[in-house]
Order: sequence, then C-alpha cells, then structure tokens
Amino acid sequence: MPSMLYNKYMNIRENVPISTLTTMRLGGAARYVIDIDKVEDLSQAYAFAKEKNLPVYVLGNGSNIIGRDGGFNGVILVCKLTGMGILREEKDEAVQLYSYSGELLDDFVTYGTEMGYSGMEALSAIPGTVGAAPVQNVGAYGQDISQSLVEVEVFDTETGEIKTLPKDQLELSYRHSIFNHGELVGRYFITKVVVELHKGHLTPPFYNSLQAYIDEHSIIDFSPDSIRQCVRAVRESKLPDPELIASSGSFFKNVYLSPEEAAGAEAAGIPVWDGGKVPSGWLIEHAGLKGQEFHGMRVSDKAALVLINESAKSYADLAAARAEIIKIVKDKFGFTLEQEPMELGDE
Ligand code: EPU
Repeated sequence: MPSMLYNKYMNIRENVPISTLTTMRLGGAARYVIDIDKVEDLSQAYAFAKEKNLPVYVLGNGSNIIGRDGGFNGVILVCKLTGMGILREEKDEAVQLYSYSGELLDDFVTYGTEMGYSGMEALSAIPGTVGAAPVQNVGAYGQDISQSLVEVEVFDTETGEIKTLPKDQLELSYRHSIFNHGELVGRYFITKVVVELHKGHLTPPFYNSLQAYIDEHSIIDFSPDSIRQCVRAVRESKLPDPELIASSGSFFKNVYLSPEEAAGAEAAGIPVWDGGKVPSGWLIEHAGLKGQEFHGMRVSDKAALVLINESAKSYADLAAARAEIIKIVKDKFGFTLEQEPMELGDE
C-alpha cells in the first residue's frame, strides 16, 4: 500500500524531538510519530512501520521514558485510546472496571475511589497512563497494579489479533512484567486494562511516609477517597509535578537484597525494610547527594531518589550525572544503583 493512503487515515508527524514527548525533556528526534486514538488504527500503524522497515515504540505520556541524543530511527505510537466504564458490579462487594490504555492512571483511580471501591487508592497522582501501569507494575505506598489487575487486552503485533492476557501470564513483580523484560517486549500493544476493586478500606499500619502523614493530621477516615487525598498530599510534598518540573519520578530503583545480604547491611547500619529492601533514597541522601547538582541534573532536595533536569543540555549530561551518583553511592555503601525509567533511541 503506498504511504499516501496511510497519511490519509492517520496523523503521521516526522522528525519530532523525543524531548517534547517525555517529561524528562531530553532526546533527539524520532523519525515518525503517530497518535493512536482508535484500536482500528493499530494494524495500519504497524503496517506503515513494516513497509518502512522501521522499529516501533509505544509511548503513553512519557513520564517514565528518557530519550537519548541520537534520536529514534523508528515509529513512535503515542497511545491516545480513551474511555472507561463498569464491566461488572456486585453491589456492596466488588466491581470490575475497564479503562482504555491512553487514559491517565490517576483518572482511573479517581473513578474507582469515587465509587467507594478500594484497591487502587494508593496509586493516586502517579503521572502515567493506564497502559503503562502493567508494563512496569506501577506501585506506590504499599499497593501495585498487580493487586487489582484482572487482565489486559492487547493488540498482538505478530498476528494482528486483539487478545486478552490474564494477570497470571504477565509475570508481574517489582517494576517488572513480560512487557518490559524478555522475549515478548514489543510484541503487544496494550489497548485496555481491567481491574477488580472491593468495598472496604485499607487498614493500618500504612506505608511509612503515608502513616506519618496520617498520624500528623490525626486522620481516622481510611475510606478509599480519604486515603487518596492523603497520598496526593504526600506525593505533592515530595515529588515534582512533571508538568512543571522536568523529571521522570524516581530515577533509581530501590535495592532488593537476599536475607544474608540484608543481615550484613543491617549490621552496617543501613535501613532494610520488609526483610530485604534498602531505600535507595536513603543511600543517596546519606552519601551527601541530596540537593546536589551534576551536569545540570539536580538530586531533588525533597526526595533523593528523584533526579530533576534543571539545565541539562543533552542525554550525555544525564549519563554523566548518573555515572557520578552511582559511583559515589557504590564507593560509600557498596551497592550499585540501577536506573528505574526506560530509555528510547540511540546514544
Ligand atoms: N529516603 C531517604 N531520603 C530521601 C528519600 C527517601 O532517606 O530523600 C528513605 C527514607 O527512609 C524513606 C524511604 O527512603 O522512608 C522511602 O522513601 P519514599 O517513601 O519517599 O519512597 P521511595 O522508596 O523513594 C518508592 C517508589 C515511588 C513511590 C514511593 C511510595 C521506587 C523506585 N519508587 O519511592 O515511585 O511513589 O516508593 O511508595 O520504587 C516512581 O516509581 O517514579 C515513584 C515515584
């Protein structure tokens, strides 16, 4: 099929800087960008990429992707699929809700909490899309999407079919799934997500920083909506709004240790949570890096796990800042920090 035809049906942009599509605001040009606002556009979009012999990359609102300076000689599909609703409701017990993948996760969370259902309230104010949530098993304040997820609907790029993948086929763990690790990466375009929420509410003790807020404000209402407000307040006090400040949220992953390693770390005075998690924010802060600037990238003075792009000119600046931070933490504590956001394009 000649490209003319594609152009007639789809909005194809050429040479779009990745910096304009991502909240870290770095990265060279992508060869083509196509907005996907109908599931039916997907076959054509993938056919277009195949015809041009170019790779495809799927983007939501770009809040967890960092663009590299060499740009992307491929086709970025920006997911704009919208719509959400109730699949099944057992009044006063449970509800199954669906959302198309281009909706903001926070809007989906609001939908559930406003109906009075519990299961996603701690995921409030996360700046990503619904479709991105299963990709890295988005989580915060003791919840992650795997706890409420039932299934995802996907477009299978190999067969061109729409398929349903139940949760147990997704290998969800800390910031991990079949969509970001292993041989199936790139195979599926997530179109829709289904979650099941329940009547009731979370019970204390809550995740440390959330509990501290609840204690400080003497909050006794643990309803989904109330917890949602608390989470919003905690996030606002620590995490930069990506609309206003260039960042990708947590820049490093927390460190997970084996029981033997955990015992060693505790003996050395390093905090270990839940038998094996070392908060990387603590390591960075106690390496003296909170608020420090490296090559235009600043370690947030509110949450040391967050790197803010204040004046970096390129991905190379970010890479230099990252190398220095990793080295300082490694020299002081012996742990090698790993980056949390994914990357796109050539260096
Ligand atoms: N800490 C410090 N100094 C800091 C920041 C943290 O000492 O500057 C220590 C404290 O001991 C604190 C602990 O680290 O109690 C945990 O900090 P926080 O509650 O702020 O959470 P986090 O481990 O820094 C993780 C997620 C966040 C998520 C929060 C809340 C990762 C990589 N990050 O951050 O997710 O919102 O927990 O659950 O797991 C994201 O992925 O982009 C993200 C923001």
